[in-house]
Amino acid sequence: MILGANGQVGWQLQQQGLALKRIDTFPLEIIPIARQGTQLTLDLTDSSAIQTVIRTHQPHIVINAAAYTAVDRAESEPELALEINGTVPGVLAVAVEKIGGLLIHYSTDYVFDGTSSTPYLETDSTTPINAYGQSKLIGEQAIQAKAQNHLILRTSWVYDVRGKNFLLTMAKLAQTRPQISVVNDQIGSPTSAPLIARITYQILAQLLATPDWQTLTGLYHLTAQGFTSWYGFAENIVAHLAESSSHPLAELIPISTRDYPTAAQRPAFSRLNCQKLQQTFGITLPAWEREFGIVWQTWLQSRPT
Ligand SMILES: NC(=O)c1ccc[n+]([C@@H]2O[C@H](COP(=O)([O-])OP(=O)(O)OC[C@H]3O[C@@H](n4cnc5c(N)ncnc54)[C@H](OP(=O)(O)O)[C@@H]3O)[C@@H](O)[C@H]2O)c1
Repeated sequence: MILGANGQVGWQLQQQGLALKRIDTFPLEIIPIARQGTQLTLDLTDSSAIQTVIRTHQPHIVINAAAYTAVDRAESEPELALEINGTVPGVLAVAVEKIGGLLIHYSTDYVFDGTSSTPYLETDSTTPINAYGQSKLIGEQAIQAKAQNHLILRTSWVYDVRGKNFLLTMAKLAQTRPQISVVNDQIGSPTSAPLIARITYQILAQLLATPDWQTLTGLYHLTAQGFTSWYGFAENIVAHLAESSSHPLAELIPISTRDYPTAAQRPAFSRLNCQKLQQTFGITLPAWEREFGIVWQTWLQSRPT
């Protein structure tokens, strides 16, 4: 059961799950659930509906890709962010625990304050500096307290060729503005939704093949490898755009966070150390630039000519 099936990660989970099912490598039946547009719909603010849908369908695995992800808006509506990101995961955990299932949930690099100078480990202490990060941390803790069998995958800087994200915003601005100012002092790892979905299924395949799979559950960091700033990511986007565009593109201006005030404070450094995931599951995570190149090519090929 995939919750948040229309979001960036949820959509990819759905598409890749269907593809896996078609090639029959996975004994998979997928139940996509979103607020609208799916056969089964669910507003996650309705906790009794969550319990009913899980009790009725008895999924072996519930993947929660739904979240309140508007980081700046969360500062002015922290209660809603807390409900979706903090309370709902706990409700899911209880419902999944009751049917003996596995809950897979995504969290964020924004649970950290960004003062580290080395990539954060799963065991590092969490001190969110904005309402979104605080709400996501409460969600993690609720799952850890209430569901024995859970996987929490913390990821960062998620993008895809659909949805609301930095890639699409920059690509649009680069083609419509003469100049774009982008912060160059926040460091992290851009991670594509296709990569997150792919690794989720690789982990699942391994869990299914492991008799004592319960020993492998818990908290993991999952991002593409390497790092950049938002400015560096924008440079990469504009360079790729330049290869396929005959129009003039915006000039990028590096600026500091101080010069770009936002409602939410963001960690200056949010690289996540992904060794635990790579070692436990024998997975090699790609460099972010390589993964971005693949996503870009897929996008070019799918655009009408
Ligand atoms: N985006 C990032 O940069 C980022 C970074 C780090 C971690 N993460 C985490 O990665 C996970 C996936 O993020 P994403 O980027 O795929 O998010 P997304 O594209 O914003 O999708 C989130 C989905 O949650 C759904 N949702 C929100 N409130 C809901 C409600 N009350 N009832 C039902 N559905 C609701 C939204 O539905 P509607 O389409 O109906 O609004 C949306 O489809 C999340 O846990 C997020 O916290 C994301």
